[in-house]
Amino acid sequence: MLRHFLHIADYSKDELWDILHLAKEIKTKFNNREEYKPFKDQSLAMIFAKPSARTRVSFETGFTWMGGHALFLGPNDIGIGKREAIKDISRLFSRYNDLIMARLFDHHHILELAEHASIPVINGLTDYNHPCQIMADILTVWEHRGNLDDLKITYMGDGNNIVHSWLQLASIFPMHFVCCGPSGFEPDEKTVKKVKESKLSTFELSRNPKSAVDGADVIYTDVWASMGQKEEVEKRKKIFADYQVNETLMESTGKDTMFMHCLPAERGREVTDGVMEASYSIVFDEAENRLHAQNAIMVTMVN
Ligand code: CP
Ligand code: NVA
Repeated sequence: MLRHFLHIADYSKDELWDILHLAKEIKTKFNNREEYKPFKDQSLAMIFAKPSARTRVSFETGFTWMGGHALFLGPNDIGIGKREAIKDISRLFSRYNDLIMARLFDHHHILELAEHASIPVINGLTDYNHPCQIMADILTVWEHRGNLDDLKITYMGDGNNIVHSWLQLASIFPMHFVCCGPSGFEPDEKTVKKVKESKLSTFELSRNPKSAVDGADVIYTDVWASMGQKEEVEKRKKIFADYQVNETLMESTGKDTMFMHCLPAERGREVTDGVMEASYSIVFDEAENRLHAQNAIMVTMVN
């Protein structure tokens, strides 16, 4: 049966664990540079309507290492939804390629791309969510802690696409998730409601950084203005100033807390240089795991 990877919530707990275990196995193979070519003679179309470093390089590197050929299609190449209808691109690429990965603005556009495709479509970020990132994130937390028991994640800043994927994960994996940020920048209400309805995790909205981070296993942040909102950078700098992750905040949790960020980071804004460089910062393990988590997602999608 054709399946896409568009939202964490489309998968069961067992399926997500299978992907995480597979990611660990493939990571070992990659680190030993073992021969592993499940995508021999296959191709991956990578559509980017927004910029990217990690997503582009990790998908292309992973797919190439696994024996396939990845095609990078940047914002000025195919003009998805502008030069050509999304549903036409779906059907065209379904005839040429074996997999599609797309990073688009409007979430409805990736739904439309998947609806008309006869090959798996993987969401490489939309304005609504970023499921591949959160698979890499939870893999990283698991590796560092050895388990996911009694997990408290405190997210500082904008209730954006990263938060939405964390919330979808929280409706499947139990955790205490705190979103701490200024009024008017809360995550999507429907996504929050689903976490509450799951009765699995607890969700807390906070305006108080000091109490929000108390006992946190992870403090996570992201840019205050996402791609597509960069004209608001200066305005948001003032609104979010109290929610910066700095050394004082990191050291006030009462336990050994890890720092995570999906990257790219705007040092000096949402996070200080000192926190990024501290021994508790696991941002590069997290970025590395994009490669391994996505390799496992791609293998799962085509098998
Ligand atoms: N974290 C992430 O998706 O990074 P890029 O925007 O560089 O791909
Ligand atoms: N929220 C950020 C994530 C970047 C990986 C953005 O959408 O720009």
